[in-house]
Amino acid sequence: MASSRTALIIGASRGLGLGLVQRLHEDGWNIVATVRNPQLPGALADVPGVRIEQLEMNDTTQLDGLQQRLQGQLFDLVFINAGVMGPLPQDLETVNVQAVGDLFMTNAVAPIRVARRLAGQVREGSGVLAFMSSILGSVTIPDGGEICLYKASKAALNSMINSFVVDLQRPDLCVLAMHPGWVKTDMGGENAEIDVLTSTRGMLEQIKAQSGHGGLRFINYKGESLTW
Ligand SMILES: NC(=O)c1ccc[n+]([C@@H]2O[C@H](COP(=O)([O-])OP(=O)(O)OC[C@H]3O[C@@H](n4cnc5c(N)ncnc54)[C@H](OP(=O)(O)O)[C@@H]3O)[C@@H](O)[C@H]2O)c1
Repeated sequence: MASSRTALIIGASRGLGLGLVQRLHEDGWNIVATVRNPQLPGALADVPGVRIEQLEMNDTTQLDGLQQRLQGQLFDLVFINAGVMGPLPQDLETVNVQAVGDLFMTNAVAPIRVARRLAGQVREGSGVLAFMSSILGSVTIPDGGEICLYKASKAALNSMINSFVVDLQRPDLCVLAMHPGWVKTDMGGENAEIDVLTSTRGMLEQIKAQSGHGGLRFINYKGESLTW
């Protein structure tokens, strides 16, 4: 990777996105980070030197605005992290069209809309485009039936990433669908297996290890390959 590196983190107000920003800062990267409400950046404001941009991923006008503001900027890493759990409980008999639509729009469609606008700005040869997937998006995994809609949204994301990569025709580009582990965040909950530091440290290590290796891979924060 280049010596002075720049990353764009989508969805950095809290949880794993914020953790990624903190690890990248510790590692000397320049960082652009998006939040939905820049008036309330929370702990992101405590990370020095971060350029904070506004993005509600489901708003195409905001997506176009971000693309325009970032025009001409090259990124060594674009990490599309933002995502939601969706309605709870995930009872197929009671969930409504709006809630299911919002979940799939946020987790599977919007990340590709971001990628389509910014993939051309990922550095040739060494750049990495990463999506926050989940091992629950692996269609054969038996776990997590109680959040079956979330699981399906991540399986849909994996499928959408595949279509995007085929369409992009850039074999040099390293594209990662990443599983961060089961992590203690607002989404992962207190009973999760690992903390944000362990997950984000691992993911950054893997991003650096994968840099320069073109192609699409589904891996976890330890670098282990996962079944699609
Ligand atoms: N935690 C885990 O164990 C785990 C495991 C596997 C995968 N993941 C994935 O990791 C990613 C981050 O999860 P997390 O655990 O850090 O969750 P989190 O603490 O709930 O954070 C979610 C982040 O996504 C942002 N976001 C949600 N919807 C958005 C939208 N429409 N536009 C822009 N930003 C949006 C949130 O912004 P606001 O603050 O504005 O809401 C927040 O920054 C998600 O994609 C999640 O599915 C998490």
